[in-house]
Amino acid sequence: MPAFDAFHDFRMDGHSAIVTGGAQNIGAGISRTLCGAGARVMIADLDGARASATAAEIALETGGDCRGMACDVTKATDIDAVVAAAVAAFGGLSTLVNNVGWGDRQPDPTAIAEDTFIQSYKLNTVSAYRMSMACLPHLLKADNASITNSGSFSSAVPAYDILPYATAKAALNQMMVSLAHLLNKKVRVNSVLIGTVMTAGYADAGILPEMQQRMLHPDSLTGRPGEPQDVANAMLWLCSRAGSWISGQTINVHGGGGVVRLFGQ
Ligand SMILES: NC(=O)c1ccc[n+]([C@@H]2O[C@H](COP(=O)([O-])OP(=O)(O)OC[C@H]3O[C@@H](n4cnc5c(N)ncnc54)[C@H](O)[C@@H]3O)[C@@H](O)[C@H]2O)c1
Repeated sequence: MPAFDAFHDFRMDGHSAIVTGGAQNIGAGISRTLCGAGARVMIADLDGARASATAAEIALETGGDCRGMACDVTKATDIDAVVAAAVAAFGGLSTLVNNVGWGDRQPDPTAIAEDTFIQSYKLNTVSAYRMSMACLPHLLKADNASITNSGSFSSAVPAYDILPYATAKAALNQMMVSLAHLLNKKVRVNSVLIGTVMTAGYADAGILPEMQQRMLHPDSLTGRPGEPQDVANAMLWLCSRAGSWISGQTINVHGGGGVVRLFGQ
């Protein structure tokens, strides 16, 4: 056994995490990776059955402790219940990944209903704030505590097709920086600004196959769309001791960019 293990600081043994929206796609990738690194993980997802099934799969794949629970992160009572369940199961909480988020495409800015903005803020921004506050008393007792958000690169570039989503994610960035300063020396707070990861949600959001093709067209420096694992690897870095000198940051994980002309005219 060599004396130096370069992966030592990436281990998550002794950590316990909640991953919101972890039942599929990017959130499932994050849950699998944190659990595979040794963390005990609670998946909190609107789809409780899928959360449990994914958690069981992850537990089998990693040999770790992964559980799933139904939770609507826009509801305070659901948030309190999932935090209580995680703390009861794991004896504490060191890690929160606010991964839930989404928004539909609307190329005509005059057609965006006020309520669409409000719902987008509730899902993408307010839910992360509520989750963070509910977890905070437990995070404050933990070693290497962190909150990491699934942000979006669309929050940092012109994203006229998805205004309510992009502005809500931009607000999430601001909240992240402010919380990181408020919680300095106690809880690290960061956001991963994610680029194009082709998930089933794209079609549901009204992004047609030809638009998806255009999004693949490299302006991107790496010339490929992202995989959930690309995001999960960054999350592991930020949540583990390997990231313990990083707080208040937005980390771009987007294949080198190129989403400015995401959807075309
Ligand atoms: N896929 C991308 O290209 C991309 C790009 C940038 C940012 N992101 C961000 O990454 C995150 C994950 O994206 P994804 O593509 O894996 O999403 P997804 O839609 O595939 O999965 C989201 C998960 O969240 C759950 N969920 C939805 N509403 C919920 C609620 N109210 N309470 C609890 N759970 C809820 C869903 O059941 C689902 O399991 C999101 O925040 C998204 O905005 C994704």
